[in-house]
Order: sequence, then structure tokens, then C-alpha cells
Amino acid sequence: ALAEQAKRVAAEFDFGPDAVNRAVKEFIREMDEGLQKEGTELSQIPTYVTAVPNGTEKGLYMAVDLGGTNFRVCSIQLHGNTTFSLTQSKVAIPRELMVAKTSKELFSFLAKQIENFLKTHHEDHYAGHIRRRQTGETFKDEEIFNLGFTFSFPVNQIGINKGLLMRWTKGFDIAETVGQDVCALLQKEIDELHLPVRVAALVNDTVGTLMARSYTSPGKTGTLLGAIFGTGTNGAYVEKLDKVTKLTSKANEGAYDQSTGEMIVNTEWGSFDNSLRTLPVTPYDKELDEKSVNPGIQMFEKRVSGMFLGEILRLTILSLLKDPTFPLFRDENSATNDIHSTTQIHDDSPLYKQWGLDTSFLSICAGDHSPGHRVVRQTLDKDYGVSAVSTEDAEAVRAIAAAIGRRAARLSAVAIAAIVLNTGRLDASTSTGTATTEKKEGIDPPRGEGESSADDDDVIDIGVDGSLVEFYPNFEDYIREALREIEGIGEKGEKKIRIGIAKDGSGVGAALIALVAGRVGVDTD
Ligand code: BG6
Ligand code: GLC
Repeated sequence: ALAEQAKRVAAEFDFGPDAVNRAVKEFIREMDEGLQKEGTELSQIPTYVTAVPNGTEKGLYMAVDLGGTNFRVCSIQLHGNTTFSLTQSKVAIPRELMVAKTSKELFSFLAKQIENFLKTHHEDHYAGHIRRRQTGETFKDEEIFNLGFTFSFPVNQIGINKGLLMRWTKGFDIAETVGQDVCALLQKEIDELHLPVRVAALVNDTVGTLMARSYTSPGKTGTLLGAIFGTGTNGAYVEKLDKVTKLTSKANEGAYDQSTGEMIVNTEWGSFDNSLRTLPVTPYDKELDEKSVNPGIQMFEKRVSGMFLGEILRLTILSLLKDPTFPLFRDENSATNDIHSTTQIHDDSPLYKQWGLDTSFLSICAGDHSPGHRVVRQTLDKDYGVSAVSTEDAEAVRAIAAAIGRRAARLSAVAIAAIVLNTGRLDASTSTGTATTEKKEGIDPPRGEGESSADDDDVIDIGVDGSLVEFYPNFEDYIREALREIEGIGEKGEKKIRIGIAKDGSGVGAALIALVAGRVGVDTD
């Protein structure tokens, strides 16, 4: 009986082919609307980045990366042959800084991490700089590191290294920062520590991922889309400049290089369909949103990304536990339990706390093929204070968790498909000849030696990063299953879409943008 009932709950997370197709149409509508005016659901933020790299770029750069969970500092040596070496350090962002009273608390912490990194990994450079400062010597421009700042939140970009925070996402909530230039905030703290670092470019993590993927992945046409499926979710893609009509005002003249005819656009798809025209809504989605710091926004993200999937599962389980007729974690199941004791949820179980269930638990559920789902039962016991869980209970939890994961992947397919369809890449790739010429205009020439294969010509390349796509088993398979169901993509189109991990891509990507932005790095090659 439990299995049957769990199946019914799992079915609440169904997002079938019709629903997927409706959502794709809405996504395309919102994409176009966002390119025309401000204040739309998809923000479609112009990035002022008008070319993707081709793998020949060289130099030494620095990058920092404020994601949703970690802060990374890195230095990157681009070798110019599609390879790079990266030195990096990573710290978890202290929770209290995410909701600090002042911007300074967060940004001075970031600058301090940059200082530590320089002392550890570029000691000579750092010591020499400090010495020259003390003796009053002037220092040359090339002694200053150009830094790419990956800032993974929605920013109204008004120049390559200037951007005003539109809103916080992913649980961050520092009211004072909204509307401020985040580059200036970081530069101020860097200067207070007298570090030889200039914030040269401001980059969203999706844009960094797109750049990094395009640098390293072979192919004639460059990468179309960089996407994050991690703590949050978002995508940036290569758009035709003449479609970005909200940019072509006089005020923006000269603010960017128009020669490629293209610009990378940060969609901020986390806020796709905030008005819930096509997104699925369960009681658990509603409750999650109501109790979040930003109700009514990031509605797509709240159904897709790592910060939220665990919470959806937690709320689902809790609501089942409140229902006295629902047989989850009840004594009658424990008969099949190998320890023959009664299932018990401890009072201080994280299941009772908001955000208490980590999305990694969904990955564990999906990956547990052990007899009787031993791993799931042990995790529930050790990490979640639910002891003596029966096999049936574990099976029920797995079924519901899988449904939540699968829905997230199918929603992800909506975003990917809409961008592939709306940029016309699929039509272009079916008639190889014209497609190549058209694409070459905007994006840098083919990388590597010689011609890439005909197959490569046909490929639509997508770079992805983030804990969800990296660790959730079969996330890509679920995405592909949905892609095949989408009108205009189908089996043929799905095969042309190549999805590749661009691991820690945004550090490299930010360095590349610091370079593309025309700030000359120290070329040591
Ligand atoms: C990292 C990127 O690899 O992935 C970050 O360098 C990005 O820029 C992050 O924000 C996303 O994944 P997660 O799971 O850390 O949110
Ligand atoms: C959130 C942010 C977005 C970022 C994404 C992935 O959606 O708003 O800017 O790209 O998370 O980290």
C-alpha cells in the first residue's frame, strides 16, 4: 500500500510532454520580450561581451568567484593552445555574511581572501609590491593583476567592470547592496589592503562558463550556451546584437564593440515564468516559496536548483508525516526491517528544520542500488535522525525524490530547448554550408589546427557546471529524454546537442573576459 501511495505523491511532480512544450513556447516569448524592454520576467541582461574565445588566448590573470555556496580565488595561466593551468583556493561563504547588515562585511571578507591567496601563491609578487609601496616607488601598470570578478547574481551591467546589483538570490539578503556597483565595493576593500589588483571585468558565472567552454571545447562554431545547475540555475547565450533592441539606444553607443554582430546575454532564467503561466505548482512548491526570503521571484530556480530540491522533498515528507493515514515511517513497515525495531524520528531531526534536507540526499537516493536501499536507510539514520527505516519506507522516499529530480531536469530541458530553437541554431546546423558561414561572422574563427570534422560543424555545444549536473545521477539523461519530446527538436535535434561539463569554468571564463575586455595581461609565454 505504501508503494502505491508513494507513487501517487510522486505523480504530483509529473511534468509531461504537453506541459514541457507549453513552457518552451512561454520561454521563447519571455526571451524576446526581455530583449526589448526592462523589468521583464527574464531579465535578458546584455553583458557587453561580444565575442567568445577560440583557444589561442594567452596570459596570466586572476579571478575571484562568488557563487552561492563557495568563494574561490584563482590565478590562471592561459597557454594559448586551448589549455590552461589554474591555481585556486576555495572557502565556504560564512552563512552570517550572506545576510549581513552591511555590504562591507561581505566584501572585506572577499578582499581578505584575495590577500591570503596572493601571500600563499604569488609571494614574490606580493612582497615586491608591498616593498615598493613602503619605499614610495611607483609601480608599473603591468605589475597589477587584472582580475575577473565572477559574481553569480543578477546585475544590471553598465560597463565591462561596472554593474549594479538588481536583487539577491540563493538565500543572500543584504539590503544595503541592492543598487550598488559590486565592482566598486570590491575594489574599495582591495585598495584598503593595498593589494596589486584591479577589478577589470564583472562576469556572471554562466557567462564565465560559456567562455571557458568555448576556450577548451573543440568545434567550429563556438559554444552557444553556458548554463549552471548548482545552488542556483541560470544560462547565458550568444544572441544577435540586432535582436537586443533595448541596447541600441544612443546612450549605449560606443559602449561595446559592434563588429561581431553578437552579444552574450545573461538570461537570469531563474526568474522564468514568475507569474506561473506554465510552471508546475504543487502544495510543496507553494510552501517553499512562501517561507523563502524572496517570495514570488526565482520561481523557475525554486523548482530546479540544488538549493531548493532538498527543501521540496523535506516539505513533501513532512506533509505526509502529518497525515495520520499515510503509512510512511510507521511501525507496520518495520517488520521487514533487518533490525526489527520501530522506526523513530528524533525530535531534533533536521527534517523538522527549514533547509534541513540537503539536495545531496536526492543524489544519494538516485544512486543507491544496494540491496534493500541500505545506503538511503543509513543516511536517513545517520544524517537525518530517522532510525530503523524499513525497505518500503526507503523505496517510497526514493520514488518521491526521483520524481522531484526528474521534474527539475525536464524543466532544465525547457530552458535549453528554448534557447536552441530561438537562436535558430538547429535550422542552421542542418544545412551545414550556410550555417558555418553565418556563425563564423560573429564568433572567432575555428580553433586548433586544420578543419574540424563535419560532425563538429553540426554540433550545438553547451557548457554546464554546478553541483546538481555534476553529482545528480542521470540528470543529463532526463534532460535528453525531455528534449526528444520537444517540437522542433525531436530525436534528430537532441543528438546534435552536445552538453559538456566546464568544471570550475567561471574562473577561467572571468580571466578570459578580463582579456577580451582588452586589458593586457602579463604574457609570460
Ligand atoms: C563553480 C563555478 O564550478 O560552479 C561557480 O566556478 C558556479 O562560478 C558554481 O557558481 C555553481 O555550482 P554550485 O553548485 O557551487 O552552485
Ligand atoms: C542565481 C543567480 C544567477 C546565477 C545562478 C547560478 O540564479 O541569480 O546570477 O547565474 O544563480 O549560480
